[in-house]
Amino acid sequence: MDTLRNYYATTMGKKVVMAVTGILLFLYVLVHMLGNLQLYAGPPLINQYAHFLHSSRAAPLLWTARVVLLACVGLHILAAAQLWWRNRQARPVAYSGRTWREADLAARTMILSGPIIAAFVIYHILHLTTHDVRPAPVFEDNLYATLVGGFQVPAVAAFYIVAMVLLGFHLWHALWSWLQTLGLTHPHYDRTLRLAARVLTLIVVLGDLSFPLSVQLGFVTAP
Ligand code: HEM
Repeated sequence: MDTLRNYYATTMGKKVVMAVTGILLFLYVLVHMLGNLQLYAGPPLINQYAHFLHSSRAAPLLWTARVVLLACVGLHILAAAQLWWRNRQARPVAYSGRTWREADLAARTMILSGPIIAAFVIYHILHLTTHDVRPAPVFEDNLYATLVGGFQVPAVAAFYIVAMVLLGFHLWHALWSWLQTLGLTHPHYDRTLRLAARVLTLIVVLGDLSFPLSVQLGFVTAP
């Protein structure tokens, strides 16, 4: 336990925690997006899927996933905040005339995209899981109608679209940097790995963007 605590106290320890939790969170977002593609098959399939997720058969799996996800989110945010604070303390005076040669836009905006994504997830759970926020009517046994109704509200669709673009920026930088932290890069495979990280980011973000967009454009309509 002490060894773990001492390792976490180092900058590398915090980066490894961010990388491991980040990869687990990314896998969740990927699987979640693939599950949501059932929207395109019409109401019966996605409604059956939602029904299964809330059944007693799926409860152990659902709750294990929820506990792991929550722990990952908590540790990811804690390590990010501590690293940000350590950086700030190490350089209390801002650079003058700073040039961003190495860091691209995605890397520079990580500390901004992170909290906005967290705010999106809170809104998203209140909207689609607990139904405490109801921008449109909620149908307890009809996830399809609830989803389509929500995305028909322009402000909701716009919020999802902005959040998904920011998620894309976040992952664009993060996936590659996590692989580097975990020492999983190699000069021989770096180009392929970097390309794979970018393709995976695009798959997740374009898939997620397609849901509010296809409702707003009228490709997916209420039953
Ligand atoms: C447009 C894209 C998205 C759609 C259409 C969508 C859809 C949904 C739906 C329908 C649920 C409720 C499932 C149910 O309880 O029946 C849900 C829950 C959830 N979503 Fe999403 N989602 C999207 C993007 C995301 C993203 C990008 C994240 C994470 C960054 C995310 C994280 C979650 C979480 C944590 C839950 C709660 C799961 C639970 O019940 O424990 N979603 N989403």
